Amino acid sequence: MKKISIAIDGPASSGKSTVAKILAKKLNYIYCDTGAMYRALTYLAIKKNIDFEDEKALSKLCLEHTISFKQTEKEQLVFIDQIEVTEAIRQPDVTNAVSIVAKHGAVREKMVELQQAIGRTGGVVMDGRDIGTAVLPDAEVKIFLVASVTERAERRFKENQEKGIKTDFETLKKEIEHRDFLDSTREVSPLKQAVDAVKIDTTGMNIEEVVTAIEAVISTEV
Ligand code: CDP
Ligand code: CDP
Repeated sequence: MKKISIAIDGPASSGKSTVAKILAKKLNYIYCDTGAMYRALTYLAIKKNIDFEDEKALSKLCLEHTISFKQTEKEQLVFIDQIEVTEAIRQPDVTNAVSIVAKHGAVREKMVELQQAIGRTGGVVMDGRDIGTAVLPDAEVKIFLVASVTERAERRFKENQEKGIKTDFETLKKEIEHRDFLDSTREVSPLKQAVDAVKIDTTGMNIEEVVTAIEAVISTEV
């Protein structure tokens, strides 16, 4: 069967990475979590005390370090150089700074280069904010996942509880709204539905239902 590229974009906690991972496994495709790459860079900036507004220093960091993934049976691990940072990049200090780091054109240029190199291997499911619009504009399947902000905050709240990350629901909801605002109003590659993307409102849908809906779109391409 022909190997295609599948781009999944949408706001925070809309279910992108969960369904992207399931689809990649089912199709035997590569999964690329572009958000994890911006998170890893933000984690490095925090560790090295770099100002989140310092575009030059941030893009230099991209050149000095290697962000990579390792797929295990259970999960996808994230590494900076040889150090595993899978859990560390999901902590609130990273989450609250990542949209500032990700707004810089020079940072995005470097990240997009890496993402396109992964995409070129073919047979990829990539999720993020600008995959359908900027990273893989020629992807055969483009999905834009949305859900009400209340449901997205509920999903993330539950997930944080399970991971032992302490959060207050109202604060979490405000942070999600703020991050969506920053992501969709930045100048370079803002979060936006590609004109040729299929929008799926997942409010009230469970993971399996969303996967089935995307598989229906994929089936028109392969
Ligand atoms: O999983 P969650 O929705 O919390 O976020 P993520 O996918 O891990 O992405 C974290 C942040 O990275 C986003 O809020 C964006 O600021 C940035 N990002 C981006 O700018 N472009 C992408 N392709 C992916 C993520
Ligand atoms: O990657 P993104 O930030 O868009 O979202 P995610 O990390 O895939 O999903 C956030 C949380 O919502 C996870 O705990 C998923 O298991 C959950 N989820 C859900 O309950 N129902 C869905 N339809 C999609 C995701």
